[in-house]
Amino acid sequence: MKKSLFITFEGIEGCGKSTQAEMLKEYLENLGKKVLLTREPGGPKISEDIRDILLDTNNHEMLPETEMLLYMASRSQHTGEWIIPALEKGTFVISDRYYDSTIAYQGAARKIDRNIIDTITKYATFGLVPDLTYLIDMQAEIGLSRISQTDADRLERESLEFHEKVRKGFLEIAEIEKERYIVVDGYKSIEEIHKFIVGKFIDFQHVELS
Ligand code: TMP
Repeated sequence: MKKSLFITFEGIEGCGKSTQAEMLKEYLENLGKKVLLTREPGGPKISEDIRDILLDTNNHEMLPETEMLLYMASRSQHTGEWIIPALEKGTFVISDRYYDSTIAYQGAARKIDRNIIDTITKYATFGLVPDLTYLIDMQAEIGLSRISQTDADRLERESLEFHEKVRKGFLEIAEIEKERYIVVDGYKSIEEIHKFIVGKFIDFQHVELS
């Protein structure tokens, strides 16, 4: 039995994962657990600085290779400086995105070779795999309609077709990695989704809840 878990939330833009990550954090804190809620790209200062470069709308020239490596660099610092030390102290870690986002965005949508992504992921994450991943699924069109286009970041400005490939990429990972993936119907209400997420968390037998 583990004392804490590493939980990730994934999905396309506007799917509502950040709200759900926050609600799960509150649920766990009410059970008396220590929780680190964090995000990718981001977390510690170095990773947040890399986030700014990645999402800057002026950086049109960024090559897919550069983009993928920057996400990985940000992740490496985040995993080594924050996530692993927190888990070692028995803190639950919830991350709004992790390496599955690279498989979906840079792999499925930008067409970077999956073997290259997998090799660099293992190196950048020190081999840390999430215990549980919630994929909040919905059509790209619906997700995109929920975000403001005026202050959309570099990735959010990509085409509908790009975001459809991202969604498909996530669903393919969920199909293969059934033991850690929970696909959540993103069309339900915020409360219904939270209830479903908590229900699945309770069913997950690998952690001490008392
Ligand atoms: P956010 O909007 O969920 O904070 O994520 C920032 C953007 O970065 C979002 O458009 C998804 C994208 N992204 C990737 O393309 N690859 C990655 O590995 C990660 C973590 C995010």
